[in-house]
Formats: sequence, structure tokens, C-alpha cells
Amino acid sequence: MTANYHATPLLAIVLAAGKGTRMKSAIPKVLHKVAGRSMLGHVLSLAASVRAEKLAVVVGPDMDIVRAETLKLAEAAEVYVQANQAGTADAVLAARTAIAAHLAACAAQGKPGGHCIVLYADTPLIETRTIVRLRHALDDGAGVAVLGFHAKDPTGYGRLLTDATGVLIAIREEKDASGAERQVTLCNSGVMAFALPDLLGVLDRIGNANAKGEFYLTDAVEIARADGATTQVVVCPEDEVLGVNARDQLAVAESIYQRRARARAMADGVTMIAPETVFLSFDTVLGRDVVIEPNVFFGPGVTVGDNVHIRANCHFEGAKIGSGVKIGPYARLRPGANLGEDVHIGNFVEVKAVTMGARSKANHLAYLGDGSVGADANIGAGTIFCNYDGYRKNRTVVGDGAFVGSNSSLVAPVEIGAGAYIGSGSVITKKVAPDSLALERSAQDERPGWAAKFRAMMSRRG
Ligand code: UD1
Ligand code: MG
Repeated sequence: MTANYHATPLLAIVLAAGKGTRMKSAIPKVLHKVAGRSMLGHVLSLAASVRAEKLAVVVGPDMDIVRAETLKLAEAAEVYVQANQAGTADAVLAARTAIAAHLAACAAQGKPGGHCIVLYADTPLIETRTIVRLRHALDDGAGVAVLGFHAKDPTGYGRLLTDATGVLIAIREEKDASGAERQVTLCNSGVMAFALPDLLGVLDRIGNANAKGEFYLTDAVEIARADGATTQVVVCPEDEVLGVNARDQLAVAESIYQRRARARAMADGVTMIAPETVFLSFDTVLGRDVVIEPNVFFGPGVTVGDNVHIRANCHFEGAKIGSGVKIGPYARLRPGANLGEDVHIGNFVEVKAVTMGARSKANHLAYLGDGSVGADANIGAGTIFCNYDGYRKNRTVVGDGAFVGSNSSLVAPVEIGAGAYIGSGSVITKKVAPDSLALERSAQDERPGWAAKFRAMMSRRG
């Protein structure tokens, strides 16, 4: 049983039908990324973290890529299409089948109403614990629990209207609000949770006689109260409920996410000299006593072991960095880079789809792509794995303890045996046997006294 275990089954409905016109983008808004993962992905992961038994995602017409992203991240999700953007209540009702099935299943378990929560796919920063608090409000008897926040600037938000004792009476959309109601700064985040056996009956009674001519989900508060249900507000920090409508808000969401992720990493034992210059991905894993110098970017899929020192100005994605590694400054790890313990990667070294054994070094100016390097090998400055012939990617295999001299080109497919030496400047095209020296270089031609004579001749010419 985990901390998030809850006895009442939960249906999460994620609204993702908005076109997101203000993003001015060819892709739907909810597929834009925060910390390397789509906003939709963040919300699906929230639904998973609160262990929703059932997940319904509402998309707009012609949003096959949103459907595809949903099913990629949450196989069991049910995707519903909202034909017209007629408002948030209409969007929730697009998932009517899911709601009906959930209510029936809950009734059969003797938990009438169950829990049903509505999330927006463009609001990616909500924390698990906040949803848990919302569910506690339902456990305490609320039929409707609304996630609210105190807005610095409430413009555009629905206002949470409460009575003298703080009980939620109604939600008033800005366009329908009176002057006095607009003074209210307690706002609706959009997240609403329900424990109503007659949820569909409530939603079906919502009309569209309002300033926007839309079916407002927020009207469920007054209707449920008229039915005798109690309603409650749960307040969370404004940062958590930032909704993204345009690119500037996407950047704000990113900065809030990064601030949190850095704080979490430091709390877990990572040193950051200038945390505000380190960018983490949603799935970055950092070990203990990792030191990160300024200007380091983590793309998705990076795992870092303990006691790793990352010097300034590095870029990583899809890489595994073993314990004790020293890397950078100015190093790039691309997908499939896998560095064993105590590997050293220096400045201007790029590693892609290469596994490096323990204690191997590539300290300066190298490209290692597609292959493997054994343990205790030395890859000299300027070494290139020539992996691409214009059609295929070929592999380079360097054995344990091999020494590749500076400025060598290893033309793949090629294999350097364990303990072999490659003379500097060689272009290696054939397999090198273990413990041998391979040298590919023309004989040096030296002309004694030539330079002095040349200078003398040039100076006579004046
Ligand atoms: C909504 C709330 C408002 C709250 C605000 C928080 C209503 C009526 N109002 O207003 O109280 O303060 O969010 O940001 O709910 N969507 C659909 N289909 C639709 C309409 C909307 O899927 O037909 C989706 C949108 O993609 C979006 C979400 O629902 O993710 C909210 O819709 P939006 O139009 O942004 O509502 P707001 O006017 O911002
Ligand atoms: Mg909105």
C-alpha cells in the first residue's frame, strides 16, 4: 500500500481539446514541452501518481497526435473527442461514457459517486500532494471540491464566491461577474473534484445562458448545492496552477518547474554552483555528491551516478554517467552514451551510442560515435570514430587498455584489440590485433639546413 493509496476509485478527466491559438504553433498547445516532456505528459503523470483507476482524455477534432501522445504515455487511457468547443462542461460531458461506467462501478462497490477529478492539460505544474488534499475534502463530505488560489492579478479567472464562513457558494466567470465580484482575488484554478452519485444529472443541467454562451463546468457548484451537496475550496500556491496559453507563459512554467527541480536535487545532495543556470529534465536522475558547475543542460533520459563532477557548459541527453566520472567543460553526451565508473571526458568531446568501460579517458577534442571502448583505454586528442559512410552507421570497437594516439581516424567498422597502440595521426581501416602497434603515416622527409637557407634567400630579396 503506497502513500497515495485511496479506497475510493478515481476517474481523472483531462481536458485537452483547446486549440491553443495564442501559441501560434503548428502543433497543439498541450504537446508543447516543459522540462523535456509535453504538458499533457505532465498531467497524465499527475493522474498516474494519484492512482486514477480510470483516465479519460478529451481532445478536439483532428487531434490525432494528441491521441497518439496520450496512448503512448498512458496505454489504458480512453480518448474522447469533443466535437465543438462549447465550454468546459461540454468538454467533460464528451467523456460521458467514462463517467457513467465509473459511477456504475463505484455504486457496485458500495461507494456511490466515487471520486471524479477534472484536470486541464495546459496546467502542468500541479503537485501530487495538492490532488491528495482535494480528495481529502471529498472524503470529509464535500460533493464538489474546487482547487483555488489567491491571484496576484485575478483578471480572466473565475472568482470563487464564498459566504461569511468561507463556504464556497458559486464560481463566477469574469465576463459574468459584477464589479464587486471582480474585486475577489480567490480564483478558480480550473481543477474540480466531485463525489456526486448524480454527477451526470448535475452536468446535464448546466446551461449556456452566460456572457460567452458556453457550458461552464463551474456552474456545477451552484447546481450541486441546490441538490443539497456541500462544496469546499482547497487553496494552493498560485505557482502550481499556472495555465499556459502563450509562449511567455510556457517560459514561466519552465522556470517554475526548473526552480523546483533544482531545489529537489540540492535537497537530495547535489551541489550546484549557479543553480539558475542548470536545466534539468523531468526524468533527470542525479546521484549523491554530484557537483554541477554553471551552464549545464540535461535533456531527457539522463542518469548520473554518485560523486560525478560536471564541469561548466555541458549538454547531455539520453546518457548514463557512472559514479566518479569527471566530465567537461564543454562536453556533449548524446543518446546511448554510457560512461562507466571513473571515466574522464574532457573539453569538446562528443559521445553518441558508445559504451565506455571504467577509467577510460577521452580528454580532448574527440568524436566517439557508435561503438564501445573497453576499460582503462586512452583515446587521444582529436580522435574520430568515422562511423558514417553516407548510408549506414558502422561500429568502432576499442579493447581494454588500448591507447589511441592523437588525431587518429578509426574508420568503422573497425576493431582495435585490447592493449594495442595506434600511432598518432593514423587512419585505421583494418582490424588491429591485441597488443600490437598500428601506424598509418608516410615516412618523415627531413632536409637539414633547408629552413636557414630559405630565410637567407628571402631576406636578400628584401
Ligand atoms: C476556466 C474556468 C475558470 C478558471 C480558469 C483557470 C470555466 C467555465 N472557467 O476558464 O473559472 O479560472 O479556467 O484557468 O471552466 N476546454 C475544452 N473544451 C472546451 C473549452 C475548454 O477542452 O469547449 C479546455 C481548454 O483546452 C482548457 C480548459 O478546458 O484546457 C479551460 O478552458 P478555457 O477556455 O481556457 O477556460 P477559461 O476561460 O480559462
Ligand atoms: Mg484558460
